[in-house]
Amino acid sequence: MKTFIYPGSFDPLTKGHLDIAKRAAKLCDELIVAVLHNKGKTACIDLSTRVNMVQKCLKNIPNIKVMSFDGLLVEFMKINKATAIVRGLRSESDFRYELEIATANKILYPDYETILLPCRHDMAFTSSSVVREVASFGGDISAMVPEQIVAEVVSLLN
Ligand code: COA
Repeated sequence: MKTFIYPGSFDPLTKGHLDIAKRAAKLCDELIVAVLHNKGKTACIDLSTRVNMVQKCLKNIPNIKVMSFDGLLVEFMKINKATAIVRGLRSESDFRYELEIATANKILYPDYETILLPCRHDMAFTSSSVVREVASFGGDISAMVPEQIVAEVVSLLN
C-alpha cells in the first residue's frame, strides 16, 4: 500500500491546503494529513481544534486519515510506513523553504521522497497568517477558508 503524508501546521486549514490534500489523495492509496508542531511558530488555534477542523473538511474523502504528532516528521513517516511527503508550492519563496525541509528530512531518512505540488493559482497569496489577520479584524474569510470551518475560525480568532 502506498502511503503519503501531507504535513503542516494548518493554523487554520485554508482552501489552498484543502486543494493540495484532495489532489495528493489521488496519487496514493492512503493520505495521512498530519497536523504537526512547527517549532518556529506559536500556534493560535490549539492542536485538537486544528485536527477537528481538518477532519471536518476532509471527511468525505475515503482514503484520507487525519492525525497529529509531536516529534520529527521522519519518525512519523517511519511509524506509518509512509514513502513520501507532499507539500504545496505557492511561490519561489516557498520553494526555498521546502527545499530546506526536504534536504533535512532526506539526510535524516534517505528512503523518503518529497512531492511538491503547485498550488491553485487563485490561492498563491493565501496563507494561514493572512486568514488569522483578516479574521482578527472581523473581515470576510469565506474566500480563503473551507465553508465548513468559516464560522468556527471567525469565533476563535475575532
Ligand atoms: N495554500 C495556502 N497556504 C499554504 C499552502 C497552500 N497550498 N501551502 C502552504 N501554505 C502556507 C500556510 O498557510 C502557512 O502560512 P503561515 O506561515 O502564514 O501561517 C505556511 O504556508 C506554511 O504552513 P503549513 O503548510 O501549515 O505548514 P508549516 O510550514 O508550518 O509546517 C512542518 C512545517 C510542520 C511540516 C514542519 O515544521 C515539520 O515537519 N515539523 C515537525 C518537526 C520536524 O520534523 N522538523 C524537521 C523538518 S526540517
